[in-house]
Amino acid sequence: MKALLTFCAVVLLALWLADCTAPKPAASAAASDPDAAGRAKIIESLKRDIAGKENWPADSLYENVKVLKTLSAERFLGVMDRWGQALGVGCDHCHVKNEWASEVKPEKAVTRQMIELTTRINKDLKSIGGIEEASVSCYTCHRGEATPRRQAK
Ligand code: HEC
Ligand code: HEC
Repeated sequence: MKALLTFCAVVLLALWLADCTAPKPAASAAASDPDAAGRAKIIESLKRDIAGKENWPADSLYENVKVLKTLSAERFLGVMDRWGQALGVGCDHCHVKNEWASEVKPEKAVTRQMIELTTRINKDLKSIGGIEEASVSCYTCHRGEATPRRQAK
């Protein structure tokens, strides 16, 4: 019985992971994420700037990294892209164009607090019995929009 339950849990987890990592059909991704191509182009050029140093910690290559310090530069840029996708925005939603280290845009500071919020929620979620494997991300609330909706349109 216990083995069966374990087997079911593993299968469910596998399905959940597969669902999360499955590539989205290009058409629907384009519809809900109009800035995807723009972000990809910028990331490509930033990756060229750090060629050979992709595995260095982000804070060793960039000036104002306060939260994601130890993430490899490659994964750091991946997170940037995912934030854009979660909010349905381009890099310029949080950054002054080509001044990545600038702290002028309030969205950048808010984002650091949003990371804290998300971490806190996930900690609380773990204390609710039966949903240990679930977690909340930016997308859970934002759903491709800069301002999450409170209710259905
Ligand atoms: C939702 C807001 C948001 C979006 C969208 C976003 N960023 Fe960021 N970005 C941040 C925050 C916040 C930091 C600082 C992270 C930290 O302190 O750990 C940052 C830091 C950076 C840095 C490091 C700059 C330095 O020298 O300190 C680079 C480079 C960067 N972002 C590139 C990008 C690129 C390229 C895109 C688009 C693909 C992008 N960002 C999209 C919020 C955002
Ligand atoms: C629990 C739900 C929730 C989660 C999780 C969440 N947000 Fe938010 N976020 C909100 C709400 C609600 C607002 C306020 C929107 C408004 O102004 O009405 C907001 C506002 C923001 C804003 C400023 C408003 C704007 O228009 O730009 C940014 C930037 C932002 N979130 C980024 C993020 C990022 C990045 C993450 C993941 C690290 C994240 N959020 C996770 C609910 C959430």
